Amino acid sequence: MNKVLNLFGTSSNSNEPDPETGLTRKEKHLVERSWNLVKNDLKGNGMELFFILFKECPEAKNYFPFRDVPSDELINNNKFKAHAVTVMYSIGSIVDNLNENDVLIGLLQKNGESHGRRGIPGEAYWGLKKCILILLKSKLGSEFPKETEEAWEKTLTVAFTLIIKHL
Ligand code: HEM
Repeated sequence: MNKVLNLFGTSSNSNEPDPETGLTRKEKHLVERSWNLVKNDLKGNGMELFFILFKECPEAKNYFPFRDVPSDELINNNKFKAHAVTVMYSIGSIVDNLNENDVLIGLLQKNGESHGRRGIPGEAYWGLKKCILILLKSKLGSEFPKETEEAWEKTLTVAFTLIIKHL
């Protein structure tokens, strides 16, 4: 795997980071466990993620085919709902493959290539990262402690760094 993924170094303790991604088993577990709580409502949480994104980063809406649909009408737009679910499944695939580095890398490369063709800039990913963290915090409350937040922060940084390389 590309060494650029390992932004966080390695160590030899029981919580040893994966030499390729820099993510520890514990961090992967915290991400998987918290995602399990969110994925029971992919449609609702997916739509909420996009509402947060369009509030925090209004310019992001311009990339989407529903750019001209007012926000209060999006909730009834079938394409918007389908897209929200698609993106949540796609984030779920990344989470499900944190232990399968070859698949993980393939997913991230493909995401970068497909979004690069749409002209999505790297900054949009950092905006989305912030919104994913906001969503998790608001949905999970006390089940999203600091160490889980830090695990997501690190995982998304590693994943989005690789995606951005392929835009
Ligand atoms: C976690 C990061 C992301 C994931 C997992 C993701 C996933 C997806 C998926 C699965 C699709 C549909 C098929 C395809 O792969 O082309 C898609 C389409 C799209 N994504 Fe993303 N995406 C991410 C980040 C972003 C960002 C940051 C933007 C821009 C703000 C964006 C904008 C779009 C647009 C404009 C489409 C096409 C929508 C359409 O034509 O209906 N995506 N994304």
